[in-house]
Amino acid sequence: MSLPAAPRINPSILAADFVNMQAELARIASADFVHVDVMDNHFVPNLTFGPQMVERIQATSPVPLDVHLMISDPDRWAPGYAELGAASVTFHLEAAADPIRLARRLREIGARAGVAVKPGTEVEGLFEHLHEFDQILVMTVEPGFGGQGFMPETMPKLRRLAEETRRRGADVWLQVDGGIAADTIGQAAEAGADTFVAGSAVFGAGDIDAAIAGLRETASAHHRH
Ligand code: DX5
Ligand code: ZN
Repeated sequence: MSLPAAPRINPSILAADFVNMQAELARIASADFVHVDVMDNHFVPNLTFGPQMVERIQATSPVPLDVHLMISDPDRWAPGYAELGAASVTFHLEAAADPIRLARRLREIGARAGVAVKPGTEVEGLFEHLHEFDQILVMTVEPGFGGQGFMPETMPKLRRLAEETRRRGADVWLQVDGGIAADTIGQAAEAGADTFVAGSAVFGAGDIDAAIAGLRETASAHHRH
C-alpha cells in the first residue's frame, strides 16, 4: 500500500453522524485517513464503539483507518484492531503496560504502530525508542471529547519531539489531535506536525472537500522543511 504524503489530513468521525456512518464516510474520500476514536468510558469519561463497529467502518471507508484507542489495557485489545485491517493503530502511552512490546506486535500484524500522549505527559522517555513507532500522537486537548479548544501549551513538546526525530533520522509521523482548525493548524505544522486530525473543522464545514483542501494548504504553507 502506498502511503499518503504529508501533510496528511485525517477527519475524526467522532464529529460525524453515527447513524449515517456510510454516507459520512463517503463524504471524506479526499482525506488521507479516517480517524476512528475508540473510547471505553474508563480511560476517558466517554464511550464510543468497539471492534464490531470499526470492522464495519473498515469495510465501508474509502480511505484507510487511523484508529485512536482511548482505552485501558491496550496491550490486550489493540492487536484486534490491527487484525481487522486498520492501517494504523495508536494506543495511549499512559495506558500501556509494555508499549514497545505492543508496538512490535502491531507491526507484526501489519499495522502502523502509534503511541499517543495526553497534554500533560512528557515524551522524553520515548526518544531512544522512536524507531519502534510509526506515529506519535501529541494530544492538543484532553482526550475524550470533540469540539474542545486547541492547547498551544502542547507545542513546545511537539517541537522537541520533531527536533529529536530529525536528529535521529527516525521515520515517524508526528500527529496532532484536538481543536485543529483553519486558525490553529498553522502553529502545529510550524512546530513539526505532519499528520492532522480534525473533527468539527471537517464535519462541521458546509463543503467538506474544500475544508480538507484548505487545512492541507495551510499546513503546507507552515511546514518546516
Ligand atoms: C478527542 C478525540 C479527537 C476529536 C477531535 O478525544 O481524540 O479525535 O474527535 O475533535 P475536534 O477536531 O473537534 O477537536
Ligand atoms: Zn482522536
